[in-house]
Amino acid sequence: MRLLSLKLEKFRSYENLSIDFDENSPVTLLLGENAQGKTNILEAIALLAFPKSFRGVPYHNLIKHDEDFFRIEAKVSSSKVCQELAVSFVKKPEPRKILKSGGKKLSDREFIGTLRAVIFSPEDGKLISGGPEYGRQFLNMVNAQVDSGYFHALLQYHKALKARNALLKAIREGKSQPAELYFWDNVLAKEGMYLTVRRRENIDFLNEKLGEQYRSLSESAHEILLSYRSQLSVEEKSEQYCEHLTRGLSYDLQTLSTNFGPHRDSLRFFLNGKNMKEFASRGEIRTALLALKFAELQYREQKIHQKPLLLLDDVFSELDSLRQGKLMEKIEGYQTIITATRCDMPERQHRGIQSFYVKDGLIHDIKER
Ligand SMILES: Nc1ncnc2c1ncn2[C@@H]1O[C@H](COP(=O)(O)OP(=O)(O)OP(=O)(O)O)[C@@H](O)[C@H]1O
Ligand SMILES: [Mg+2]
Repeated sequence: MRLLSLKLEKFRSYENLSIDFDENSPVTLLLGENAQGKTNILEAIALLAFPKSFRGVPYHNLIKHDEDFFRIEAKVSSSKVCQELAVSFVKKPEPRKILKSGGKKLSDREFIGTLRAVIFSPEDGKLISGGPEYGRQFLNMVNAQVDSGYFHALLQYHKALKARNALLKAIREGKSQPAELYFWDNVLAKEGMYLTVRRRENIDFLNEKLGEQYRSLSESAHEILLSYRSQLSVEEKSEQYCEHLTRGLSYDLQTLSTNFGPHRDSLRFFLNGKNMKEFASRGEIRTALLALKFAELQYREQKIHQKPLLLLDDVFSELDSLRQGKLMEKIEGYQTIITATRCDMPERQHRGIQSFYVKDGLIHDIKER
């Protein structure tokens, strides 16, 4: 899979932008000072792979200030077939997101997977140092991109969760009967089991690869482990799932929320047996996240037999030169788009790299300057 070109219109800081990616150069470097629009470009590409901003912002904020819409277009080739993809969003008359492939409108579920990309960004740090929602987001993003059934289950699960929580309120107000929960409990059990099983399978695979990835990036003998916490134990089936919901009912009625299920799962990272959230250095965190992303890459390739595009946002800034070099070795064979400030990317003269200089929402080909 290859990204051939990208066009932006009224997206973030860009009025218009057009980039042609050099087919002979697997690596494209976007260099520039802070706040010039480098990450905005990666964010736009990432939206073509997964139509939700990796920076966790709503679509409204992605529109250039004082404008009413944005449009992202790209040409992608896969097995020598060229495809045109587009993501656009209009504010008026009603907020509307439009996803297209080859001019045909697609649903989120159909669209995910047309471009495959793995993004490495400083935001990933939240996976280790932030709340449990970041771990769940990561698991959802990885699994939804390799399995459209997972994405469907996730939508159904959240719909059922919302309906059940509304019903809890109606029961407490005496407007509904507890027996009415039966239907939603069964939906939650069916979809929740599916999500949990897929997440477990995913974590097992990642754990098999993570150590080797971490050691090769850092040339250390550290032991790293990803720990997945779910309230549902491995051997439990959907009947037990429903029993958990029934047992928790009085507490759910007090809190007016559903307290059991994969929406409460969490991920923790351990380095040499110590919780990284409490003990790890910034470089160790960055290395662990890179190792995780390369393990994710292996997972994706095993599932879909295609090499995803790599988007590396500002990854060099907290890595020493050994780790930077190891990272450059690891990306060989992948189309990779890297953002960096000049001082963080000493290897910009690296052979075969297409380089752009990004300044004030415009880009210049460095060779032509
Ligand atoms: N919706 C928007 N409309 C207009 N400008 C925006 C919008 N959203 C963000 N910006 C601006 O885009 C600019 C560039 O952002 P971006 O995150 O791409 O910078 P960067 O080059 O990656 O910088 P850094 O090196 O600091 O990471 C910022 O100045 C920001 O204020
Ligand atoms: Mg940036």
